[in-house]
Amino acid sequence: MVVLADAGAVGRAGADVVERVLQANAACVLGLATGSSPRPIYRELARRYRDGLTFAAARAFLLDEYVGLPADHPGRLVAAIRRDLLDHVDLPLDRLDSLDGTVADLDAECARHEAAIADAGGVDLQLLGIGGNGHIAFNEPGSWLGARSRVVALTAQTRADNAASFDDRLDDVPAQALTQGVATILDARQLLLVASGPRKAGPVALALEGPVTAEVPASALQLHAQLTVVLDEPAAAGLAVRG
Ligand code: GLP
Repeated sequence: MVVLADAGAVGRAGADVVERVLQANAACVLGLATGSSPRPIYRELARRYRDGLTFAAARAFLLDEYVGLPADHPGRLVAAIRRDLLDHVDLPLDRLDSLDGTVADLDAECARHEAAIADAGGVDLQLLGIGGNGHIAFNEPGSWLGARSRVVALTAQTRADNAASFDDRLDDVPAQALTQGVATILDARQLLLVASGPRKAGPVALALEGPVTAEVPASALQLHAQLTVVLDEPAAAGLAVRG
């Protein structure tokens, strides 16, 4: 675990982890996450791309997506990851696989996504943020920790937390999403959890130092042998142990 002073330092430490994976295998499989937490890492990766780091042989999978938004809606998570990372590096767009919340058969889409991850040989490095209620991806409290990709209902808190992407219009935030399951996430060979800001102090402490429980889906990360945690000081404030 590393605890750092500010977003710039968090971005550099996270980017170091991604860069090591890319250098070990240029054709690696990256698991991407949206949200504000990984954004400093993506900014730093874009800077390193301009300095010569290449993603050209890599491929990527995105953790989750809203159900029911039109294909051109800017609130879609696939649109967000394009704005935050793919528009700024040379990872080819057609090498990003994301759950498609616009299709009629959502269960088939989840099965397709799981099969695509397996076909790619699994995820080498999965980036993760943590929700204010301890969720990872869109695995809300109470999610079965053995679950794989599926349709889920979003909690009122998660919808409120994400309203900013919908011009703060809560009614416009979809009630359902597609998400990789906790078991899908734990299958990745390496995990990188990043959290910033005081709002994450509670969920980070519960996830890392509390019991492993479905009530805090991020607590399942304790079961992974290759977990790197990058926090800023406010997000680390609730931890008894930093090590
Ligand atoms: C969203 C996403 C998660 C993300 C979390 C935290 O609901 N589905 O993948 O980790 O919220 O978001 P943020 O980093 O913006 O606080």
